[in-house]
Amino acid sequence: MERKGRRLVLFPLPLQGHLNPMLELANILYSKGFSIYIIHTSFNSPKPCKYPHFSFHAINEGLSESETSRIDGHLLALLNTKCVEPFKECLRRLLSDVSEEPIDCLISDSLFHFTRAIAEGLKVPRIVLRTGGASSFLVYAALPLLRERGYLPLQDSQKEEPVVEFPPLKVKDLPVPPVTDNRAPTSFYQIIDSLVNETKASSGIIWNTFEDLEQSALTTMRHDFGIPIFPIGPFHKTILASSSSSSSSSSLLIEDQNCISWLNTQTNKSVIYVSFGSSAVISETEFLEVAWGLANSNQPFLWVVRPGLVHGSDWLVPLPHGFLENLNGRGTIVKWAPQLEVLAHPCIGAFWTHSGWNSIMESICEGVPMICTPCFVDQLVNARYVSHVWKVGLQLDNGMERGEIEKTIRKLMVEKEGDEIRYRVSKLKEKANLCLKQDGSSYKSLDSLVSHISSLES
Ligand code: UDX
Repeated sequence: MERKGRRLVLFPLPLQGHLNPMLELANILYSKGFSIYIIHTSFNSPKPCKYPHFSFHAINEGLSESETSRIDGHLLALLNTKCVEPFKECLRRLLSDVSEEPIDCLISDSLFHFTRAIAEGLKVPRIVLRTGGASSFLVYAALPLLRERGYLPLQDSQKEEPVVEFPPLKVKDLPVPPVTDNRAPTSFYQIIDSLVNETKASSGIIWNTFEDLEQSALTTMRHDFGIPIFPIGPFHKTILASSSSSSSSSSLLIEDQNCISWLNTQTNKSVIYVSFGSSAVISETEFLEVAWGLANSNQPFLWVVRPGLVHGSDWLVPLPHGFLENLNGRGTIVKWAPQLEVLAHPCIGAFWTHSGWNSIMESICEGVPMICTPCFVDQLVNARYVSHVWKVGLQLDNGMERGEIEKTIRKLMVEKEGDEIRYRVSKLKEKANLCLKQDGSSYKSLDSLVSHISSLES
């Protein structure tokens, strides 16, 4: 790292769906002339060798292997306590280095809510990166009200009822904790309340979204929150549009490139890509339903089965003997895929996703229609937006059942309904491209973010 320029300190949450957008944001801001300092945990550390232009500073938060074995609210609570002292120490050290340019601000993941108090104490402005969508955040912000109005805790008898404050959401779309989180629901809501309150107390919020996608939520937020809002997404395309620097992979797992060679042998738009992201967990029964649904659909498939995806099982052990061989090359399974490359491949026809925000943005940017099976938190809201607001996908509304899976895949990839969905997602892809062009909404918002950062006073 040689550059001397205005310094920014970024602090990513060490989970895949959060590291990716934070490092993409780092590249975007680097392309705008800032020097980038990254404070990161030892757990799930990013790989500094992939970003020689940034300065990395590891903290030792002391999380044990058993504490990081499950990604849920418990881990978030631990991160928000165990990082406090080492983070404060590290930030203090960076701030006191007078041989360098002053630090303009801290950009912290919104889920590191403890950073507000520290930034205030050290008198450094704090901007927050929210890695999820704006629409789901508004639902988070309204959870106290929705609890008061009796929508939560979730009652089975009400789950198909509309949430009249947030059309077209149904009660069953309201955020719930991961199934592996066995703590009281109140702990989950406490984390969300802290996330919302400490985000609203920041000097601005950066969003990996764009105006045409979430205009209504962004407008409401501008009106209600009283702090600047910067929708500058889609991040992974912004990097390419804003400079010569490229989007470098921040995968924590090894990407299996063989799946690209396999995709090269398929026909255009024929393959369904299946991935449930970096932290969702499904049961063995659900896993087998997915396997048979894919097999019975008769479509070629590329399926990411991450180690740990199936609760209590070793990788592919539950699959019937000879399952893939009997399909004669129609399907392939990998542990982790180069997802951006996969979605951009001409042979991909659909993406069956857990509806994590990054996955949705990445799919829209390549004009790939989706099938949604949300698992927890914001994914439920995201999925409803995909199927009922943007209408660029279908939702598996009744869980994972092989007959329904087969029917949904065929509806999207073979039947007439799929044509309309494909058309809509291709239009949304165009809008995602346009917003990054000069005078596009994300382009302008990025310029305002740069001016805003420069105007902040420590
Ligand atoms: C988590 C939450 O589950 C999600 O709801 C929230 O919006 C962000 O954090 P995650 O499970 O990590 O998300 O999913 P997602 O947001 O889709 O991010 C996954 C990232 O991993 C994507 O950028 C995707 O490109 C990448 N990925 C996924 C791969 O590179 N290879 C894979 O095989 C699968």
